[in-house]
Amino acid sequence: MQKVRKAVIPAAGLGTRFLPATKAMAKEMMPVVDTPSIQFVVEEAIRSGITQILIVTGKGKNAIEDHFDSNFSLENNLLEKGKDALLEKVKHTTIPSIHYVRQAYPKGLGDAILQAEIFVGNEPFVVLLGDDIMPDEVPLTKQLIDIYEKQGKGSVATIEIPTEKTNRFGLVDLGEKVEQNLHTIQHLVEKPAPEVAPSNLGIIGRYLLTPEIFDILKNQQPDAGNEIQLTDALETLNQVAPLLAYEYKGTRFDVGDKYGMLVANIELGLSHAETADKMHDYIKELAKELKGSKV
Ligand code: UTP
Repeated sequence: MQKVRKAVIPAAGLGTRFLPATKAMAKEMMPVVDTPSIQFVVEEAIRSGITQILIVTGKGKNAIEDHFDSNFSLENNLLEKGKDALLEKVKHTTIPSIHYVRQAYPKGLGDAILQAEIFVGNEPFVVLLGDDIMPDEVPLTKQLIDIYEKQGKGSVATIEIPTEKTNRFGLVDLGEKVEQNLHTIQHLVEKPAPEVAPSNLGIIGRYLLTPEIFDILKNQQPDAGNEIQLTDALETLNQVAPLLAYEYKGTRFDVGDKYGMLVANIELGLSHAETADKMHDYIKELAKELKGSKV
């Protein structure tokens, strides 16, 4: 069994749900308290034992590369001023071994992953989307790697979603139970309407894929919006190299839209050493006010 060493992090999307913030700034650099969302996923990959990371970037995404590079003048400044804790924080984000490739046009998640073909070669690999932050102690990526090592199969992470939201997710139609929270997959369907949804298990931003995916993506027809959808390619992959659906039960913040980003900032702000106390007080006060209001 090949070891899972490589991770692909697609970050070339336009981030239209955050406009105008993302007009000149990468959505993946938007912070949760003080940490850009992409840093959470890079750290998750490293904590899961991944040793080689590729970030798929595009136009207007240079800040991502700068973030994981050193910043000599800033570091010098912090050193001179004796701001050791901050200096450590800055140095912690310098990860020179990350690789980058550009997606020329934002032609969908499937097309972004196709850009990773040379980097991945003939190995199993994980895909992490910065839209999902999972702060659990055992990272979801590590859980998918454990499944691969035990079952010898790729997998997609899923969560139970409300019926009215099926048209926002790729959905899995489950087959047989393999283990607790682990099933074979009959079909994968991209964003079905609630009336035709095969289940209420939506795919979230962690995948463990095998390299057969690349030939499938090359032959994948774009959808009506001219995007190559990963879910469509996974439906084909599942026929040639069966996938498993893992139902994730841990904490998840969907920071891909405004509401989820606000929730993540509140929740993680409540546990951050510098903000926790003030946030608790503020939220208690606010709750009293809201309780008293008529709205
Ligand atoms: P999303 O659909 O959440 O990202 O794609 P988006 O397109 O940037 O956001 P909105 O919907 O316009 O607000 C999921 C992930 O896939 C990447 C995104 O960067 C995000 O991490 N992606 C998407 C690409 O890398 N390339 C693409 O062409 C599309």
